[in-house]
Amino acid sequence: MKRLVVVSNRVADLKRSAQSGGLAVGLADSLKRRGGVWMGWDGQTMRADEQPEPRIRKIGDVTQVTIPLTEEDYAQYYLGFSNSVLWPLFHYRLDLVDYKTVYLEGYRRVTSKFADALLPVLEPDDLIWIHDYHLIPLAAELRQRGCKQRIGYFLHIPFPPPEVLAAVPRHRWLVESLLEYDVLGFQTNTDLGNLQHYVEENLGCKMEANGRIAVGDRSVHAGCFPIGIDVDAFVAMAEQPNEEVQIETQRREILGRKQIIGVDRLDYTKGLPDRLRAFARLLELYPEMRKSVALMQIATPTREEVEAYVEIRTELEALSGSINGRFADFNWTPVRYIHGIVPRDALAALFRASQVGLVTPLRDGMNLVAKEYIAAQSMENPGVLVLSKFAGAAEDLREALIVNPFDVDDMARNLCRALTMPLEERQQRQRALMKRIREHDNAHWLKSFLSVLENG
Ligand code: G6P
Repeated sequence: MKRLVVVSNRVADLKRSAQSGGLAVGLADSLKRRGGVWMGWDGQTMRADEQPEPRIRKIGDVTQVTIPLTEEDYAQYYLGFSNSVLWPLFHYRLDLVDYKTVYLEGYRRVTSKFADALLPVLEPDDLIWIHDYHLIPLAAELRQRGCKQRIGYFLHIPFPPPEVLAAVPRHRWLVESLLEYDVLGFQTNTDLGNLQHYVEENLGCKMEANGRIAVGDRSVHAGCFPIGIDVDAFVAMAEQPNEEVQIETQRREILGRKQIIGVDRLDYTKGLPDRLRAFARLLELYPEMRKSVALMQIATPTREEVEAYVEIRTELEALSGSINGRFADFNWTPVRYIHGIVPRDALAALFRASQVGLVTPLRDGMNLVAKEYIAAQSMENPGVLVLSKFAGAAEDLREALIVNPFDVDDMARNLCRALTMPLEERQQRQRALMKRIREHDNAHWLKSFLSVLENG
């Protein structure tokens, strides 16, 4: 088995992987099994005159290589090109794209720093796997330095249609950089189709049979590899009794109240304002729901130095306050809005104790919360997943109640349907959804991508 070299903007905590998210755990496990390297940013910033050096640490059979960024790198590469240009652009939010030439320069500079730091640790037989929008040109940088190993790339977020992509300067360079990889992985067929349209229309590339794109005298394998979770691990976590959640659940049961849960990074792509409006609309359209249901929305702080994230936070705080002001009673608070981090084991217990999982991003690569909500349900009395049709997960999770996240009335109607769905229908849907998340789980994602990367 070849050694695996993973490169991503952030590195997982390899010592405490059991605590972190599904993807990080899956990748870390795979690395630990076959031995390998994980390289990324160490999360620190320093002044440019401090001459940061890569840090190399051995953790079991895994070598962790981390580099710090200068304050300028952080501003231009991370906050700038990655999160103020590519993130909104790839989520179809042209209104939020804030392009500056220095951002692009910073992005290229940091990618070349990554290449310089990675090159000395590479061995001839390595398989290199690069992740996400922060590092698109890394294969090109490595090739320029003579790297001959096979290099794969996985995009965790959506890939936009050509006419959206074309709004950003140097879009052609971005896509040409993608074509330097041997294997390109996308979350959905929509994303893959968008790339195929771009390369056919703008680069005159030919699509070969079996998903390959002919580029000069070589060809690139582009495929759809939907990411998943470690289902059994999440089921086990959800089945663990959690005292605080249990007390809270019993109180709700005595009062005959149901709970809708939403858990997201506080990001404008997650559709949070319209989600809150849909909940308010539910209370307007169906007054009998008042005092019998509450929405718990957990929003984890993220990228708070980017202006658009400050705005979404202010908007949500005002909205949840105004819904509570309008509908709350002395013994019922309709919206519980938590701006913070909730530990994963408590989240799993909360999912299990909630009758509806509400996942309504305006656009999302996959959305693993949707899969985690399903994994957390009990078969005897499962809850219902209400899922945006613009989450990558909706391509597969067809037995969820699929909604349009831009249509507040549609979401309100489906919330009512979910809250009143008969047990038998809930069980049927749950059985089908469990089957789907098991078919496309984390191990399947890893295995299918790595097998193409290794064998061509
Ligand atoms: C998304 C991206 C990841 C990123 C994560 C957290 O899921 O696809 O690459 O790591 O958000 O964002 P952050 O900016 O904190 O790394």
